[in-house]
Amino acid sequence: MFRISLETSDDWQEVENLYDLAFAPGREALSSYRLREGVPPVGALSLVARDDYGCLAGAIRYWPVRVGERGDPALLLGPVAVHPTAQGEGVGGALIRDSLARAAEMGWKRVILVGDFPYYQRFGFQPAPKLQFPPPTNPERLLAMPLQEGGLDGVCGMIRKVGTSGTPTG
Ligand SMILES: CC(C)(COP(=O)(O)OP(=O)(O)OC[C@H]1O[C@@H](n2cnc3c(N)ncnc32)[C@H](O)[C@@H]1OP(=O)(O)O)[C@@H](O)C(=O)NCCC(=O)NCCS
Repeated sequence: MFRISLETSDDWQEVENLYDLAFAPGREALSSYRLREGVPPVGALSLVARDDYGCLAGAIRYWPVRVGERGDPALLLGPVAVHPTAQGEGVGGALIRDSLARAAEMGWKRVILVGDFPYYQRFGFQPAPKLQFPPPTNPERLLAMPLQEGGLDGVCGMIRKVGTSGTPTG
């Protein structure tokens, strides 16, 4: 059995260690980390899953981003990871579904991620050809889903870090 709860400051390093274990070395070189630098995650959506012994089985975090010239606010899902010994038991799915429900309740309109479509389509994610992600990113791995009706209508352009301008300079 797993219990999902909000991540606390005491969990932070353990979650970092889990991400180091689950992802290839150098994960922080990915372009998604440039969008996160200096920006705190959305605390109300940072969740951990622990087993009956209190061991960390999985974790998910989200960052706020902006989309395109209009600067539409969006959530960037991830990182999400499940400990190798707990994978395939539904922990990842439970973390994703729980956090997406919380995000919708909070009023977030859309969520994007870079990941495997065969996994994320079960949650409602679709390829997002109208969106662009900072390179180097395989555009086919850029996925999005609305959290409210019409949440992706007219939303297009480059995903960018909060607090940066959508207007190209020079
Ligand atoms: C991806 C991850 C979070 C899924 O968590 P999980 O708890 O193992 O997943 P669940 O138990 O909820 O779902 C398991 C199902 O997802 C499938 N699945 C897992 N990863 C997949 C992938 N990359 N592509 C397609 N299907 C995948 C499994 O085959 C399984 O399918 P089934 O239900 O038909 O048997 C986990 O495997 C993980 O941490 N991987 C390493 C880190 C990572 O890649 N994170 C995601 C970055 S985009």
